[in-house]
Amino acid sequence: MADWTDCLNFGISVAKQASKVVLTAFQQEKEVKLKSSPADLVTETDQRVEMIISSAIRSQYPQHRFIGEESVAAGERVELTDCPTWIIDPIDGTVNFVHRFPFVAISIALTVNKQTEFGIVYSCVDDKLFHPQRGRGAFLNGEPLHVSGQEDISQCVVVTEIGAERDDLALSTMTSNIFKLLKLPEVRALGTAAVDMCQVATGGADAYYHIGMHCWDIAASAIIVREAGGVITDTDVIAASSAAVASRIAQVIQPFPCSRDDDD
Ligand code: IPD
Repeated sequence: MADWTDCLNFGISVAKQASKVVLTAFQQEKEVKLKSSPADLVTETDQRVEMIISSAIRSQYPQHRFIGEESVAAGERVELTDCPTWIIDPIDGTVNFVHRFPFVAISIALTVNKQTEFGIVYSCVDDKLFHPQRGRGAFLNGEPLHVSGQEDISQCVVVTEIGAERDDLALSTMTSNIFKLLKLPEVRALGTAAVDMCQVATGGADAYYHIGMHCWDIAASAIIVREAGGVITDTDVIAASSAAVASRIAQVIQPFPCSRDDDD
């Protein structure tokens, strides 16, 4: 099996450099633009941080490819090939960033042959670095992570979000699904999919549910959950501490038809 540890370490050093830009801008006034909805924002910092990360990686690994949230927003196609591909969300939790709600993360994953080799979720404000590697476990600031292993849905803390899609169908599906989840366990939301999913990996939450996610929102945190012993299903995204909990949530929620990132 090829060893991607050098790339992981390089990605971590780049994420830490980029976080200085995020943290400086976090305290300042931002110029904000709307993307698809008032819950889907972009700032100059999102674009700058993506440029810093992709330029640094490109000069170190010129053959590698990239899928980045803001490059795609600017018109680049999403194309996942077998080549080493870095999937980047420069600021996951842009709405939090704009409002100074203190959960924002830089999320980076590397896929090779369409399989995720490692992830990096750097929760900048609280200085928490999540770094899983395929087959080698998931870590938080160097310490190993394990899901709770909870199998009883009535004992679960479920993390979820309303999401960025604000048309009537998306909103009514999501709110009715949250209503159904509220009858089962405790529900929480932090405003960043990447950090939300990392809570499942730490065992602090037992499941995560969200519809309409993009690959850059979840590429890094999905491998964190898996390497911490959890499961990821696809209805629409459920990350859970056990297959039993994932399947119970899938029975309760109403699926929602989402487009794929690589739909043209
Ligand atoms: C958003 C966050 C949020 C989720 C949205 C995402 P962004 O990512 O992950 O938690 O509910 O669906 O779009 O836009 O801040 O990178």
